[in-house]
Amino acid sequence: MNPVFVALDTTDLARARQLAALVSPHVGGLKLGLEFFLAQGLANTADVAGAAPLFLDLKLHDIPNTVAGAVRAIAGLKPEFLTIHASGGAAMLRAAVAEAVEAAARSGHRIKLLGVTVLTSLDDGDLDAIGQRGPAGDQVRRLASLARTCGLDGVICSPFEVAALRAELGPDFQLVVPGIRPAGSAVGDQKRVMGPAQAIEAGASRLVIGRPITDAPDPAAAARAIAASLA
Ligand code: C5P
Repeated sequence: MNPVFVALDTTDLARARQLAALVSPHVGGLKLGLEFFLAQGLANTADVAGAAPLFLDLKLHDIPNTVAGAVRAIAGLKPEFLTIHASGGAAMLRAAVAEAVEAAARSGHRIKLLGVTVLTSLDDGDLDAIGQRGPAGDQVRRLASLARTCGLDGVICSPFEVAALRAELGPDFQLVVPGIRPAGSAVGDQKRVMGPAQAIEAGASRLVIGRPITDAPDPAAAARAIAASLA
């Protein structure tokens, strides 16, 4: 299985279509997030994903009833993965899981729910300011454990958290990992990065890779090279 989901971080439909066509044969799936979904809507999201597995990165966070309604609203897209903030609490997480189970009973497709723990843009000072108990690493473990207890299928985490979370949460929990840079590619705004093979070795289930593929002169070749390095 190719573990790479390519992040198509754009609002532009033509660009997303073009990238999807170029890289789909060489990746395990496509990640479309809030910016594309809000700009282009459900129908164009379905169109860009085509037959490729879809990672819908909407980072839902609201009261349980509203989050359940949101899961129901996007269920027709049959995403493989959907993200939800673990800090939304147990009732919200359980409501999302219940809705995913109901959607699966209707369609036969079970959406895998991934918890977002602590955004990597937040440091210990930011956590303190919003009343969350740090240090950030402890909060990540607390929220990942809550996500698993509530029936989520996995969490998003940094490559540097993978080994500890894998040891703590067991072999079946999905650890989906951004912040990946193949040797030689620009780091950009990512602060701490790891190579694809190294992250898989540490215990990552899936990798999210954006610009090293989408900004490459030949995105298909870049995706192929990453797949080959993992084979
Ligand atoms: O271009 P790059 O490989 O840095 O893209 C990584 C993708 O993963 C982007 O869509 C980014 O929003 C997402 N992401 C991240 N770091 C996190 C969570 C998500 O880079 N902590």
